[in-house]
Amino acid sequence: MTSTETPPGIVDSRPAPVDPYYSHFATPLSPAELRAHQQRILDIPAYRYGLPARLLFWTAGKAFPQGRSFEFFAFVELVARVPYMAWEHVGHIAQTQNHRDHAFDRKIQDRVVLARDEQDNEFWHLLIMEEFLERQGYKRRWFLDRVFPQLLSIAYYQLSWLLYVASPAWSYRLNRDFEDHAMRQYATFVAEHPEFDTMPWESAYKDDYGHHATIADLLRQIALDEEVHKQHSETYLKRGARFSRRHG
Ligand SMILES: [Fe+2]
Ligand SMILES: [Fe+2]
Repeated sequence: MTSTETPPGIVDSRPAPVDPYYSHFATPLSPAELRAHQQRILDIPAYRYGLPARLLFWTAGKAFPQGRSFEFFAFVELVARVPYMAWEHVGHIAQTQNHRDHAFDRKIQDRVVLARDEQDNEFWHLLIMEEFLERQGYKRRWFLDRVFPQLLSIAYYQLSWLLYVASPAWSYRLNRDFEDHAMRQYATFVAEHPEFDTMPWESAYKDDYGHHATIADLLRQIALDEEVHKQHSETYLKRGARFSRRHG
């Protein structure tokens, strides 16, 4: 028998394929579903955000006094990815420290995978907003549209990382507030612009994100994604924010 021959008793076929990771954002909704969700989001009672979130929104308001606009949302999406990056990073550190506890490490992996999934979803939001700015011929302000979002993202990453290490509930609460704010901003933006319902959405990212026909439906889908992000943070707040062998 040569080394390339299959030993006797071994079935020479490929093993069953592994299940790919499930993405929470892989199924775009229909126009009717999206309109219903937009209205539902607009009807959700507002609540008072925590101090870090209020400080963040106040700072954003100074940089973008024009409020809801594609340049404002490009800023939001740049910053939105950051907590998920920090959580993924902390998850990897926890896995390294606990590598002999296989079951616990596997459990942490579920959070790492979810953080990646959310990060990717925010990334498509970001590229879509950047594409809008390019097509509109928006003239970027050197400090407020370039330097400021980068600086804030660095600070927000450090804050999310430190909060997640010190008390994950603080980091999840801050992110819940951020996502709640984002979902309301998108839903309101569409309500303020009825013309978006008749404007076709042309994009290089349709295969990546979803083949929505109009700009209104695209923005409604993004609002709903933001709500899903918020719900994931709320779930961990309820189940136990800290990595735990027993719960969470
Ligand atoms: Fe987003
Ligand atoms: Fe988000």
